[in-house]
Amino acid sequence: RLAAQRLVTRGFAIAGDPLARLATAPWRYDPYPIYAGLRGRSVHRSRFGFYTVATYDLCSQILRDRTFGVRTRDGLEPPPATQSPLPQGTPVIPTFLEQDPPDHTRLRALARPAFSPRKIEGYREVVHKTTSRLLDDALAKGTFDLIADFAAPLPIAVISDLLGIPDVDTERFARYGRVLGASLDGTTTLRQARALRSATADLQALFRSLIAQRTEAPGDDVISALVRSLGAGELTELELVTTCELLLIAGFETTANLIGNGMWTFARNPEQWESLRSDPSMASAAVEEVLRYEPPIQLTQRITHAASVIGGVEIPADRMVIVALGSTGRDPEAYSNPDTFDLTRTPERDHLGFSSGIHYCLGAPLARMEAEIAFAALAERLPAVRAPRSPRWRDTTVIRGLRSLVLAA
Ligand code: HEM
Repeated sequence: RLAAQRLVTRGFAIAGDPLARLATAPWRYDPYPIYAGLRGRSVHRSRFGFYTVATYDLCSQILRDRTFGVRTRDGLEPPPATQSPLPQGTPVIPTFLEQDPPDHTRLRALARPAFSPRKIEGYREVVHKTTSRLLDDALAKGTFDLIADFAAPLPIAVISDLLGIPDVDTERFARYGRVLGASLDGTTTLRQARALRSATADLQALFRSLIAQRTEAPGDDVISALVRSLGAGELTELELVTTCELLLIAGFETTANLIGNGMWTFARNPEQWESLRSDPSMASAAVEEVLRYEPPIQLTQRITHAASVIGGVEIPADRMVIVALGSTGRDPEAYSNPDTFDLTRTPERDHLGFSSGIHYCLGAPLARMEAEIAFAALAERLPAVRAPRSPRWRDTTVIRGLRSLVLAA
């Protein structure tokens, strides 16, 4: 996956592709005009053999079509464009997000029970308490950074609790999240490669030690449940470590950006903030509207397992197709007034912010609950959202999120 993403940024840059422009200012900070151009063609083909789809219908079709996988037919990723950033001998395997059936099916099924809506409902109180505690501290500062003081620590605390990770160093985890999140764009500098190597090694060490502890003394957490599956021979230890890494990073990196992107959008739409303040029960609608309008995951990719005709264009087998999730919510063929942020809209269709098909986000119930509680609590306690005209966006194209968002209490 890394290698493929690297090809996206490097390859497209050379080809002068619209996708390459996404990685450059000002489009990196406002990709929507580029998406509008991409939607003009049903399928965009780069001269490097990659394809991009950006309309709602084609993205949705590809995500649900089982002839599109995430690996080539022989189970490999496309050949790497550059040297792997991980040291020789470091055991690294793909997460189940990066696997096709049957491994995807087996590993996802082992993790699924922990994220069922019923199980997640049991976490409501923890999320409420953590939200109040973090907001008390942030608001007491007068001026605070929504990202560092609230949006990042909240999901980090919740997913760590769920997994059973004690004594969490929030800043360290947030840094790992940024490093691993940025790697989805392709690792380009030596510094990034080193950071990725060290984050992966640290996380592996952490999970190996937690697995050893939970083997001795099992608890009620997700790691203990997966350790039982390990004992039953349903997955290997490396698969267990890798699954824990996926659950941890996917569990906070995206939710933090959903909260951040949402508050940035409210800052630009004060009348919508007023609506939410006057009726905090609209927080659930706010979550869905932010996922349509400013989704934290903008791009994903699939690989054709057989030659396919998409939007009238034939795509040969084993070709990479970039699916522009971030474009789908702004598609005028799918939504009326798509560039208007409106909590009262009755959406014509489900957004693709959590993807679709077999890789549909496993953590969606948790993300929804956390963001709903966060937006409602912020609306109750923050009279106005005044944000700088040009906030500091992160330099990534797959993940859309803010580095910081300074707000006044
Ligand atoms: C998969 C988005 C929160 C765990 C995905 C995918 C997307 C996504 C777009 C699929 C990518 C693809 O199809 O290639 C989001 C967003 C979130 C969020 C926008 C927050 C707003 C979470 C949380 C967890 C989580 C809280 C909790 C652990 C996962 C996992 C997968 C996944 C495990 C892989 C599913 C599979 O491959 O079967 N997420 N996610 N996500 N997400 Fe989330």
